Amino acid sequence: MNDNNINNDISRDVVDEMNDLRNQIRRHDHLYYNLDSPEISDADYDRLFRKLIDLELRHPELVAPDSPTQRVGGQALEKFKQIRHAIPMMSLSNIFEKNELLEFDRRIKRSLGRNSDIEYIVEPKLDGVAIELVYENGRLGYASTRGDGEIGEDVTQNVKTIRSIPLALTLSGEFSNIRLIDVRGEVFMNRGDFDKINRNRDEQGLPAFANPRNASAGSIRQLDPKVTAKRPLKFLAYGVGRLAGFQPKTHYELIGMLQGIGVPGNLTHTRVCGNIEAVWSFYTELSVLRQNLPFEIDGAVIKVNSLVDQLSLGMKSRSPRWAVAFKFEPLQATTRIRKIEVGVGRTGVMTPVAIMDPVSVGGVTVSRATLHNQDEIDKKGIREGDTVVIQRAGDVIPEVVRVLKELRNSESSPYIIPDNCPVCGSQAVRLEGQAAKRCINSSCSARIKETLKHFASRNAVDIEGMGEKIVDRLVDVGLVHSPADIYSLTLYDLSSLERMAEKSALNLMTSIENSKHPSLQKFLFSLGIPLVGEHIAKLLVTEFRSMDAIESVRLEELTAVPGIGPEVAQSVTRFFSEPHNREMIRKLFDSGVTPVCPVDSTTAEGKTLQGKVFVLTGSLSISRSKAKQLLEESGAVVSGSVSRKTDFVVAGEDPGSKLDKARELGIPELTEEEFRNMLNQ
Ligand code: IVH
Repeated sequence: MNDNNINNDISRDVVDEMNDLRNQIRRHDHLYYNLDSPEISDADYDRLFRKLIDLELRHPELVAPDSPTQRVGGQALEKFKQIRHAIPMMSLSNIFEKNELLEFDRRIKRSLGRNSDIEYIVEPKLDGVAIELVYENGRLGYASTRGDGEIGEDVTQNVKTIRSIPLALTLSGEFSNIRLIDVRGEVFMNRGDFDKINRNRDEQGLPAFANPRNASAGSIRQLDPKVTAKRPLKFLAYGVGRLAGFQPKTHYELIGMLQGIGVPGNLTHTRVCGNIEAVWSFYTELSVLRQNLPFEIDGAVIKVNSLVDQLSLGMKSRSPRWAVAFKFEPLQATTRIRKIEVGVGRTGVMTPVAIMDPVSVGGVTVSRATLHNQDEIDKKGIREGDTVVIQRAGDVIPEVVRVLKELRNSESSPYIIPDNCPVCGSQAVRLEGQAAKRCINSSCSARIKETLKHFASRNAVDIEGMGEKIVDRLVDVGLVHSPADIYSLTLYDLSSLERMAEKSALNLMTSIENSKHPSLQKFLFSLGIPLVGEHIAKLLVTEFRSMDAIESVRLEELTAVPGIGPEVAQSVTRFFSEPHNREMIRKLFDSGVTPVCPVDSTTAEGKTLQGKVFVLTGSLSISRSKAKQLLEESGAVVSGSVSRKTDFVVAGEDPGSKLDKARELGIPELTEEEFRNMLNQ
């Protein structure tokens, strides 16, 4: 394939060997950089590469400009040459709302004189720099920036250093006649690489790049290609200018062709959509997916898929009529930190939070950002009064990405988390090897509140209606100090709370009662043992099966469980070795909290009512406690009040209001006889 000038003195073998090595290296580059599926080890690749360099050193006259050895930087330039694009590089018009998308579809139909659905292709809009690559007879001739659309800058030397851009195309089979092609696409940088570059720049005292797009642009417009070579740039193609020797019918086919000749095209996050509603739904999908992509995208590009239709739709002055960019809400924004506050969590960890001028990020107004801990504050150099770039990912609380130090007030000083708990005033400590400062006063009201909120939360014992405000009030008026106190609250206590209506107090009493039989897993989670989340709680319950066993578990037994590491094991044993934690659990049991242990699979068969919740009302011929015992032996749980979670109500003589409630909720009721049958009594 490689037709070097062959000097007659050189044996054909050397030329063949060089061509063979180059083809092998190109193939492995493509597998590695574009397809993410290398076939050989890095060491084997290096061996091939060195062999080629050796041969080229011995035969410099045979060094081809498209040899893989020619990527890393030629001479630095004084300035860039200008290059006129054979076909101007257009821009896209932007839209921001669904209405505009529907209007775009109507316009297309009108122009094409069609009523039927139009087929579109939707691609991510990469946020980088547009580049044109001109390949003549399969060789990369030159590469240019978009510039003003007509004339760009010659960045060939720099572009050659980007490993995902082939220096020679693989033109075979149906593609063997492609004589000329202008490949167009985006040069960009992955977020992780961008962060790394900024960290390095910070260490060298250089200003950070504001975003991956600026970093890509800055890297591609380097006069010294050796600098570009060090930047981890990537390329994905999204279209062509001139194309001679092949005629695809659709844009999708065109990108497939590019992939086929060794040019990376973004098909992974691209979809062909049969109508505009399907476009809308994929756009929505992409707007969520974007947070998990390794690179930034700022919208979706919607293109008419048929190339014939594209041609008949034509161009406006600066953009095509057949495509549009549907932008996403930016996930980053700039704002000012008014002050830094410190919150205290249930384990006493003091977390600094930035209180900021409210700003819209990705469609949501935010005014708080977590600063994690002192190390994070120091690393990013965050101070009160600073102007910062913040970022929101999903539903999590926003984070500060970086400080715009050039806008800093010269009088500001570094922020240090105080040495005292902002809530109880007691001394805070920073344990060795840990990033966080902690308030170690276990009766600090902030800690108590967080412990209770966690205990009552949905994935813990689930006390419906016991939200943040109620917990704060209960603690502030001194009614509750620990989770067990919740179960001695009276209706009077609750209705005496400020802004608590009688009805809400009653509902809350019922929820408290209904929370008394959580699964062991939820109970364990509710205790707030540091490092024990839902997953670890499940592992512990599966392995040890009862609260007694878990409370007295030894460190070695814990570390022997797959999935439990030494830190978690330490934390569990430390928790249960503290008398006040054991005391808290005892008190919960004394208040009637009985976690439901998992069924032992060996005897589960006998337990026909496993997990069913029963409520007893009225008088039965056997005593209440006997009935309760029989039910529990069959695996059922007996609750004192009716809720949606109740499975059966057993109605004896003179049933009380519980039966009314059960009827209201449509819960099945059993007579004593039916109940006995169920228990085989
Ligand atoms: S198509 C004639 N497709 O967005 C159509 N552009 O605002 C020209 N871009 O300059 C562009 N991803 O740098 C197209 N999938 C994509 C794109 C994309 C990013 C950039 C490109 C272009 C700019 C237009």
